[in-house]
Amino acid sequence: PSSPPVCSHDEYQTAADWLRTHTRHRPEVAIICGSGLGMLADTLGCQESFAYSDVPGFPQSTVQGHAGRLVFGVLKGKMCVCMQGRFHMYEGHTLSKTTFPVRVFKLLGVKTLIVTNAAGSLADGLQPGDIMIIKDHINFPGFVGLNPLIGPNDDKFGPRFPAMSNCYDKELRCLATEIGKQLEITGLMREGVYAMVGGPNFESIAEARLLHRLGVDAVGMSTAPEVVVATHCGLRVFGLSLITNKVVKTYEDSDSVNHEGVLEVSRLRSVTVQQLVTELIGKMDIN
Ligand code: 6GU
Repeated sequence: PSSPPVCSHDEYQTAADWLRTHTRHRPEVAIICGSGLGMLADTLGCQESFAYSDVPGFPQSTVQGHAGRLVFGVLKGKMCVCMQGRFHMYEGHTLSKTTFPVRVFKLLGVKTLIVTNAAGSLADGLQPGDIMIIKDHINFPGFVGLNPLIGPNDDKFGPRFPAMSNCYDKELRCLATEIGKQLEITGLMREGVYAMVGGPNFESIAEARLLHRLGVDAVGMSTAPEVVVATHCGLRVFGLSLITNKVVKTYEDSDSVNHEGVLEVSRLRSVTVQQLVTELIGKMDIN
């Protein structure tokens, strides 16, 4: 994406109005499902779903492992909307399209956004299959001017210069840790820093070493733009990374990462991730 054509307020409003007239659901929680983690949407009660292609203004998702529909339904008594498939910058979407659904959710009355992704680990203590609660992020594309908030600020959503120091809600992180104890999966869980890189290629070894030295625990190709836009418009955010592989950091290592391997691990752990997210939604307070 070269120049950032921003979406107008009308475009978000049109999508929100269209959804309001097509469903009676009024979600308070939105969930963006990462690669191989979309099955959560199938567990919602009283489902109503819409293909992205039917919702005005929605882009199409082009990645294998991402279904491309919006599912409304109920989880643990709470009204939710779930993105089965997200949009990535590397697909060629502008960042305003990548984050389009987040502002539509805001207009629908959503208060809390939950984001999941599949990520590679750089931290020694994080193994494939582990769940990293995102404590903070590094938005590398943002460093080079690829930020969804670039362009005229839409004051109806939030301020020109939003703070990002409390992106990932502390109470929700604590609650998730408590739930991890109840589910007896604390051995799989820890908090860490997620870094977004643009992709679509995985990291070179030198790049992986750089990220490691910078204090990155897990790396992926999504999430930061959605979280920046959500924080800008005052949504409470919870994020987690499912670790699908270790990032190759030495020249002696003959392993290499591939998308199929990423999907395989995320599918193997998807039920555990679903349980954690479902319990979190059940136990979080809605204000
Ligand atoms: Cl190793 N790198 C990136 N950038 N994204 C990933 C990954 C690695 N593994 C899963 N997603």
